[in-house]
This record gives sequence, structure tokens and C-alpha cells, in this order.
Amino acid sequence: MSSKVTLDNIVALCKRRGFVYPSSEIYGGLNGVYDFGPLGVALRQNIRSAWIKNMTDGPKEVVLLEGSLLGPESVWVASGHVENFSDPMVDCLNCKKRYRADEIDLNKACPGCGIKKWTKARQFNMMFKTELGAMAEKTANAYLRPETAQSIFINFKNVMSSTRVKIPFGIAQVGKAFRNEITPKQFLFRMREFEQMEMQFFCKEKDSASLFEFWLDRRKSFHESLGFKKENIRLRDHGPDELAHYAKAAKDIEYQFPFGWKEMEGIHNRSDFDLSQHTKYSGKDLSVFDDETKESYTPYVIECSVGLDRMFFALLCNGYDEEVVEDRPRVVLKLDPKIAPVKAAILPLSKKLSEPALAIYNDLKKLGHTVQFDNTASIGKLYRRQDEIGTPICFTYDFESETDQKVTARNRDSLKQERVSIDQVANYLEKVFP
Ligand code: GAP
Repeated sequence: MSSKVTLDNIVALCKRRGFVYPSSEIYGGLNGVYDFGPLGVALRQNIRSAWIKNMTDGPKEVVLLEGSLLGPESVWVASGHVENFSDPMVDCLNCKKRYRADEIDLNKACPGCGIKKWTKARQFNMMFKTELGAMAEKTANAYLRPETAQSIFINFKNVMSSTRVKIPFGIAQVGKAFRNEITPKQFLFRMREFEQMEMQFFCKEKDSASLFEFWLDRRKSFHESLGFKKENIRLRDHGPDELAHYAKAAKDIEYQFPFGWKEMEGIHNRSDFDLSQHTKYSGKDLSVFDDETKESYTPYVIECSVGLDRMFFALLCNGYDEEVVEDRPRVVLKLDPKIAPVKAAILPLSKKLSEPALAIYNDLKKLGHTVQFDNTASIGKLYRRQDEIGTPICFTYDFESETDQKVTARNRDSLKQERVSIDQVANYLEKVFP
């Protein structure tokens, strides 16, 4: 990892260029909650689309679902979240600051005020609880989902009976999840409102171990296909004392963040835990009939779960660099062209050349390319701006373009420049982004 990748550099770039803003900033912000600006939205959309495509176009059958964000208490009792989804918490009795008990040395003074006066550690449930209905006596408890996975389990039978899918198959979902983290921190790493991309693959118990390996491998290759450097990604086994309440086996795909190796994606063998629990609590049979053995069984589940925000953050860290080019420093985001928020910029060398440059921009837009036009600064500054947001190609319209009907294509990473006929610009882009 480049030594220039620091948390502060990434946070500053995100704000400066419109990737991420602190939420409700003009009112002082909301801890652990963020808003995404125009480039953030575009980058997230590209990551989401790549994830969905990789899931649904792969060798295994995977279909999509969008579940609701609110769920009744019964779902979360059955899933074990009401009882188990908590972190140990301590308060400083002096300054009232709250910490996760497993992240702090209670034999030492409070890092906030320097006084050692702790409460006992208590379990703190991380789900956001709310009430449905306006009338006090008729309200029902509901929760914002702390993981998207449960919507998949409770719709498992709906999907099977309304489509032609047969086991083994997967259900994939992208959507928001909410956790009242005691200490949200490290920017997008630990948030209170975040987005997950999860896939539950339903299978027979006997196939679950090999499918666990299949998905682990496929997920790792997916991250590499988006440009993650091999040296910044590693796999880590969960020890038996670390396993979540539902898991039989688990491995993390870790990324080397500026603050160390941390989980980016979790692959779990969730066994038949969730479907069995929902069968037990709802009274609805979620088992399936096996045509081979002529017996019913409850499927096992292999889960792949990655946070969109955490992956977005990791991709920014992975691509960030600071270099000196032609004696001048530049910040560059070396994002894979597949996910770069802007694919190309059309830049006139002088404001006087804006009209023909704008015509190229409009033509590319009509063809569906995500491009920018900028004539608001000198060409050097325009290049720096595009480098910072990860635009792979800049086309410059100069005074020669008038006569030779060509523009200069400049490559963000190699800085190589070549002349391209104006009528070949769209083909050139299609070659770069097949
Ligand atoms: N359904 C399984 C599940 O939710 P998890 O390990 O708690 O497992 C899965 O979360 C992924 O969601 C993590 O690997 C991480 O990428 C992301 N994630 C979890 N908590 C998060 C948080 N507070 N902020 C941002 N991303 C988070």
C-alpha cells in the first residue's frame, strides 16, 4: 500500500471532489452516517452493477430480491438478533463517553478525560427499534434490519414457488442495513447506516463444504477483477470462538486499510440455522422435498456478504496515489476503468475552442458514455482535476484539431498521449472499456 494513503487524505479527497459528505453537516453532522455526492453515487452504482452482474451472470443460478428495511420483532427474535446482536459497552462515569468494552483497557484511565471511573460492562443491542402505527395501544414493535440476509430467508419459499429455481440456487440482494454501533469510526469502515451486498446460496448439506470453497474463490477473483492489488487482499479463517451465532465455518476477505488489515467481506456456512429458526418461530414449513431421496430437508446456506461502503472505501484507498508529473505534484485515483465514475473528459485547450469540443462531448453522451466537459481552467489544472477523480482518458481539443480533425487522448496512468481522429473517439473509448 502506498504510504501516502492515509485516512485524512481519503476523507479530504472525498469531500473536495464530491464523493462523500458528512450527513447533516450544516447542523453539526450525525455520527456514523454519511451522504454521497455526485461522484460517490456514480462510483457506488458502478460497484453495485459489477457485483450484481458477477452474481447473476456466473456459473451458478442466482436471482435477485429487494426486501423491506423494516421487519417485525418476530423476525429478529427468530434470527437470534434480539438476544445475541449486541456488543459489550462501558461508560466513563466522569465524561459520559461510551466505549466498546472489548476495544478498551479498563485498567487504564478514560482516553477522553484521563479519569479512571468506569461503569460495569453491559450488553448493548445494536438494532434500531421503532414502533409502527400512530395509536399507543395499537403499536407494534419493528426493527430496521441489521443485515439484509433475513429478508432473503423469509422470502426463500416465495422465490421457490413463484419462479422455476431449484436447489442449488442463490438469492442476492443489495440494500441498506442499520446498526447502532457504539463507536462508529474510521470513516466508512464502521457506520450506523450502510449498504450491504449479500447472497445466500441454498444447497444440500453434503455440498456445503465444496460450495463454501467455490464462493470464497469466486469472491476473491471478483475483487481482483475490480483492480484490487493482490498484496492488499488476504483471506482469514475465523477461529471457533469467533464464529457468529449462526455460523458453522467462516472466512473473511480482508483488505489492508490505512489502519491495518480488516474484514471487507465475510463468507459463512450458515448451516440450516436460519431456515430452521424461521420454520420454528413462524410455524411455516421451509423445508424442501428431495426428488432423489424422496425426503424433505432444510437447505444449508453459504453466505457471501460485503459492505458496499466498505468496499467503496477500500477501492478509493487501493487507487489513491500521489506522484510528481512534469515537476508538479498530482493526486491520482487509479480506479479500474470499469468502475471509474467518469469514463472520459473532453477538454478544450482554450475557451475559444469550447464549441467544437462540446460537440464531441454531446455526441459521446448521446451514445451513452459517462463523460465530462470542462473549460473552466488551464489544461494542466483540468488534467489534475480528472486525475483526482479517476477519469481514465482525457481528450484534448487544441488549435491543430481545427485542421487535422484529431484530438489528443491522454492516459491517466501511463500519461501516454496519442492523436485520435474525432470520428474515432467513440470507438477508442469502446476499445478501452469493452
Ligand atoms: N449477513 C452477515 C453479516 O451481516 P457482518 O460481518 O456483520 O455479517 C457483513 O457484515 C459485511 O457488512 C462486513 O464484511 C462489512 O463489509 C459490512 N459491514 C458490517 N458492519 C458494518 C458497518 N457498521 N459499517 C459499514 N459496513 C459494515
